[in-house]
Amino acid sequence: MSVELSFDEAKQRVSELRELLDRYSHEYYVLDQPTIPDSEYDQLYRELVELEEAYPELVSADSPTQRVGGTILEGFEKVTHETPMLSLDNAFNQEELYAFDQRIKRLTDAPFRYTCELKIDGLAMSLRYEDGRLVQAATRGDGQTGENVTNNVRTIKPIPLRLKEPLTVEVRGEVYMPKESFLALNAEREEEGLAVFANPRNAAAGTLRNLDPAVTAKRNLNFYLYTLMQAGNYGVSSQSEALETMNEWGLRVNPDRRTFDNIEDVWAFIEEYQEKRDSLPYEIDGIVIKVDEFAVQEEVGYTVRAPRWAIAYKFPAEEGRTIVRDIEWSVGRTGVVTPTAIMDPVQLAGTTVQRATLHNEDLLRQKDVRLLDTVIVRKAGDIIPEVVRVDFDARSEDSEPYPIPENCPACGSELVHLEEEVALRCMNPQCPAQAVERVIHFVSRNAMNIDGLGEKIIQQLYEKGFVSNAADLYALTYDQMIQLDKIADKSARNLLGAIDASRTNSLERLLFGLGIRHVGAKAARLLAERFETMDQLKAATQEEIQSIEGIGEIIAESVIAFFDLPEAQELIDRLASQGVNMSYTGPKRSQAEQMDSIFNGKTVVLTGKLESFTRPALKELIEQRGGKVTGSVSKKTDLVIAGEEAGSKLTKAQELNVTVWNEDELTNSLNREETIE
Ligand code: IVH
Repeated sequence: MSVELSFDEAKQRVSELRELLDRYSHEYYVLDQPTIPDSEYDQLYRELVELEEAYPELVSADSPTQRVGGTILEGFEKVTHETPMLSLDNAFNQEELYAFDQRIKRLTDAPFRYTCELKIDGLAMSLRYEDGRLVQAATRGDGQTGENVTNNVRTIKPIPLRLKEPLTVEVRGEVYMPKESFLALNAEREEEGLAVFANPRNAAAGTLRNLDPAVTAKRNLNFYLYTLMQAGNYGVSSQSEALETMNEWGLRVNPDRRTFDNIEDVWAFIEEYQEKRDSLPYEIDGIVIKVDEFAVQEEVGYTVRAPRWAIAYKFPAEEGRTIVRDIEWSVGRTGVVTPTAIMDPVQLAGTTVQRATLHNEDLLRQKDVRLLDTVIVRKAGDIIPEVVRVDFDARSEDSEPYPIPENCPACGSELVHLEEEVALRCMNPQCPAQAVERVIHFVSRNAMNIDGLGEKIIQQLYEKGFVSNAADLYALTYDQMIQLDKIADKSARNLLGAIDASRTNSLERLLFGLGIRHVGAKAARLLAERFETMDQLKAATQEEIQSIEGIGEIIAESVIAFFDLPEAQELIDRLASQGVNMSYTGPKRSQAEQMDSIFNGKTVVLTGKLESFTRPALKELIEQRGGKVTGSVSKKTDLVIAGEEAGSKLTKAQELNVTVWNEDELTNSLNREETIE
C-alpha cells in the first residue's frame, strides 16, 4: 500500500511517521507514560520501514529505524573531549560530608543550595547534538580522551536521535543496564555456557564497547543525563534548572533528585535513598551532591581531578564475610551445570544470605573457592548474591582444591567441558534434572502460562513418575494430583483446570515452551505468525525460516535441528494427541488477505468512544480482515470509525474528505461480512 505513494507523498509521510514515533518513544522511555499500545507503535514503525525500503533515499541517520545496529565496527576512534570529563571526590561518612560543606563555606560567602542526585553505577558518557541531531557519543576514557561509540549509542532507545529543538549542545550523563536486564542477560549467558558479567556496570561497559552495534541494540541499556555543558548559553544559571531544561528538550533526567538549602537535609536525603536503594530498578552506589548555583560553582572552582563544588557520598559496600560449608551443583534445562556456595548465614543489604552463585566451573577454579574457606560475598541491590573472593589469609594449611565433579549430580552421566564454554554440561537428554527444568520452562509465564504449577509440584510429579515431559501434564488425573504434598481437593481441581485451559493457547506459546535453543518468546511469535501451524513450520526450509525479518541464521539452524530430533517429534505428536492446539490463533495476515473483506488493504483510524467494542478488540478484528489501524488521520487514511465524542481526528477526516463511519455503519458492515463468510 505505502509503496504506491509517490516520492513526495512518501517523503511527507516519512516525516510524519518519524515525528509520531519520536513522540511515542519519548512518552515511553523518557516520561514513562506511553499513550499508545506497543502494537500500534510497531505498526507505525513497520510502515516507516516499508517506505524507507521503497525509497532508500529517504533514510537518514536520525530515523527511528536506524537504531538496530548496522555494520560491525573495526574498532573505536579516539575522541578528545573539548572540556575534560572530571571525576568526583568521595565522602564515606557523615563527618566527611559535613567537612565538605564547611570547606565550601570557607570558599564563598554567597548563599547557595545543594542539588542531590542518585549516583548510578554505570559509565559516564558525552553526547553532542548539532542542530538538534545526535552527532557524537563518546565514553569518558581517561577524562581527556574517550572513545567514539556513536554507532552503539544510536541503538539505545531512550537516547533521542533528535531533540525537540534544533540545538547545538553537549550533554553528559550515565549509561547503565537496569537490574532486570542484567539478570536476564546473565541467565541467558549461563545457559549458553558463556562467561557472565560480574555486575551491571561491567555488563553496560562490555555492551557499549561491543564492536557489533546489533548486540548493543538487543541489550536494553538506559541513560540518565546530569550535565549540561555551556549552560549559560541557554539562559540556565543552576544545576536544578539545567536538569529541568534538558528534560524539556526530550532528554531523560532522573526524577529522583532534590534541592536543599542545608547539609542536614542533604543527609536526610542520603539516608532515605540508602533505604530505597534495593527497590530501585538500577544499581546506585551513592548520592552526588552539587552546589546548585553555577555562579557559586565558579567561585569555589576545581582541583586538577575534580570540582570542589561537588562530592560523591558513597554507600557502604554491601559485602560480608562468611564460611563456605558446601558447594551444590544444579543442572539447568539445557544441561549446564552451575555451582552454588552454601554458607553460614550472613546479613547483606538487610537480608539473610546463605547461598551465593559461583556461576561456572571456570570462575570456581579462577577464584579457587574451597570448602571451609572464608569468603567475601556481595549483594548489590536485589542482585543475586555472589562470592567475590576468598580471604586466602584465613585459609587453613591443610585445605585442598575443590574437586570439580566428573559426573552429573542428577543422572551420573559424564560431564563435559565444551570448547569455548566456561560451563560444564550434562549431555544426557534423559537426565532427570533437565527433564524437570524443561517442564518448569514449559509452564512458565511467557510459555504455556499454567498458573499455580510451581517448581515443587513439578518436582513431585516427576518423582512420583506421573510427569516426565510436557505432554504428560495433559494426561494427569485428579487421583494423581491429590496424592501430592499440600494439594487438597480445590487446588487439585484448579491445577487440572489451568492445565486444561492451556490446551487452547496460540502456537507461539507452545513453540517457546518447547525450549528450542535460541528461540525466545519473540522469535516464537514471529515463527508462529509466519507459518501458522506446527506442521507448516516443520516443513519449512532453513531459507524460508531465515527470510523472516528478525530471525537470523542461528535461530533458523536451531529450529531445523530441533525438528530433526526424533524425541522432539514424538513429544509434539503426543502433545497433539492430548488435544494441545498446534496453530496460531492471533491475527492472521495471510488469510485475511484472501478474505473478501471491506477492510482488506485499508488504513483505518479509530476515534471517540464505541459502545459495543473495546478499541483493542476492534483493532484486532480489522487486522484479522487485512486492514491496518493507525493513530492519526492523513491523506492515506481510507476510513475513520468515529464513536461518541470524537474530536480532532474526526474534524481532520472531514477536512481531508476521508470516509467516516459511525458505530451503526460499522456493525452493519461487519454483519454483512459474517454472512458472506
Ligand atoms: S557529576 C564534574 N552526577 O560518578 C562532574 N556523576 O565518581 C562529574 N555519576 O564519572 C560527574 N551519577 O560516571 C555526576 N548524577 C551524577 C552521577 C555521576 C553517576 C558517575 C560519573 C562520574 C562518577 C564520579
